[in-house]
Amino acid sequence: MATIIMNHALIEHKLSIMRDKNTPSYLFKQNLDDIAQLMVYEVTKNLPLKDKEVVTPICATTGKQLAQDIILVPILRAGLGLLDGFRNMIKEVKVGFLGMARDEETLIPHEYYAKLPKNLDKAKVIIIDPMLATGGSSVDALDNIKAKGAKDIVLACLVAAPEGVKLIEEKHPDIDIYIAHLDDHLNEKGYIVPGLGDAGDRLFGTDES
Ligand code: PRP
Ligand code: URA
Repeated sequence: MATIIMNHALIEHKLSIMRDKNTPSYLFKQNLDDIAQLMVYEVTKNLPLKDKEVVTPICATTGKQLAQDIILVPILRAGLGLLDGFRNMIKEVKVGFLGMARDEETLIPHEYYAKLPKNLDKAKVIIIDPMLATGGSSVDALDNIKAKGAKDIVLACLVAAPEGVKLIEEKHPDIDIYIAHLDDHLNEKGYIVPGLGDAGDRLFGTDES
């Protein structure tokens, strides 16, 4: 449906801290938490609303409330880095998990875990993953979630490569994609350039290099 690139000043500032290879894991996480909360603003801007009768201290009025349940689905592991920020802003969410790991040689993802809430068909499902590289993991996640009944899905990523965006647009043209920053290209190892390296390793301090 639409690809929305945020290009937000504060996100850009914090993303540059995350990109710096000398930024330690705890600061990487702190900045990702902050960025996630800024991303929520954009991702939830046009969520459907329904009327709600409220009585203020002054009078009765018709307010608004979210019309749909919201289900967040972080793609493990790195998607967990966006979860706290999103949950801080949208309190009444359910959370599902999809574990996807990319083979470092073939770049083909495989699913190793799936635990999703019921009623996917009626909810707004927000898939969160900081990195959209080849797009393989996100395409598989979308295939999986659609097969389990989800109909109204958006994908929210921190950094994306044009190659990954193109693949999602081809394979899942019904999906809105929210991207904080569109990077330049993928390198020969399938890493986003300039990117920020392996998001899962940097987030959890498992980069042994
Ligand atoms: C990373 C990232 C995405 C995927 C993107 O996960 O979190 O899920 O790579 O790459 P793609 O678009 O080419 O599929 P990774 O497989 O490194 O697992 P991790 O989060 O556990 O480190
Ligand atoms: N996964 C990552 O974590 N980083 C990349 O640059 C590409 C895929």
